[in-house]
Amino acid sequence: MNKENQKMTGMTIFLHWLIGLSIITLIAVGLYMSENEVWDLYPIHKSIGIILFVFILYRVIRRLIRGWPEPVSQYAKHEIVLSKIIHWVLLIGTLMFPISGMMMSGAGGHGIAVFGFELLASNYNAAGEAIALNPTLAEVGHETHEILGTVMMIAIALHIIGAWKHHLVDKDNTLKRMLGK
Ligand code: HEM
Ligand code: HEM
Repeated sequence: MNKENQKMTGMTIFLHWLIGLSIITLIAVGLYMSENEVWDLYPIHKSIGIILFVFILYRVIRRLIRGWPEPVSQYAKHEIVLSKIIHWVLLIGTLMFPISGMMMSGAGGHGIAVFGFELLASNYNAAGEAIALNPTLAEVGHETHEILGTVMMIAIALHIIGAWKHHLVDKDNTLKRMLGK
């Protein structure tokens, strides 16, 4: 049974905007810091990503238990299918981002830390270079993290266009409901 029909719960709205806006910011910061080799931003990007992981995990479990919110009214079948696919991509993508990031950093020997609090020790040699604990796992994490960047930017763009289409063309309650109105 779906517990969210015409109204979204406060928790759904809180998690949507906390995670949604943080993901957009972390994608921008991730691309900027890796393109321009801004090393000071790396620990901040990672720490915020790991903290966000806790909320993401809670949201995914909650969504799996409660099911998806019902659409606010009747739409064409293709529209419902497309929005379902995008919601799944967004949900799985948000989960895979921190997991692949921790794989890349942890298995790559850089350690995993939240604002200096070490969760997994780093593995640096005397010259200060990171020695991978598992190079394959680190590489898979790195590749996944990069591919997610592109996939999620496309999914988020389509998602935002969809939200505005509901608001401006269909003139329905889809966006208002997610804003708590
Ligand atoms: C939770 C949300 C996260 C998002 C949305 C995110 C997003 C991104 C993006 C888009 C990039 C640029 C990738 C590219 O080079 O094209 C990036 C880079 C990076 N991210 Fe994340 N990230 C997240 C979490 C994490 C976490 C938890 C870690 C590690 C603990 C991490 C570690 C890194 C590292 C090390 C890079 C730089 C890779 C390089 O220099 O090539 N990220 N991130
Ligand atoms: C900043 C611009 C965004 C806007 C305007 C927006 C708007 C919306 C709206 C109106 C809904 C409700 C759809 C419905 O009732 O069927 C929704 C749901 C959803 N959005 Fe967004 N969204 C944004 C960003 C994001 C981002 C960045 C993500 C993920 C990375 C995301 C993930 C989701 C998910 C998974 C749902 C399904 C409901 C839920 O599980 O919370 N959204 N969004």
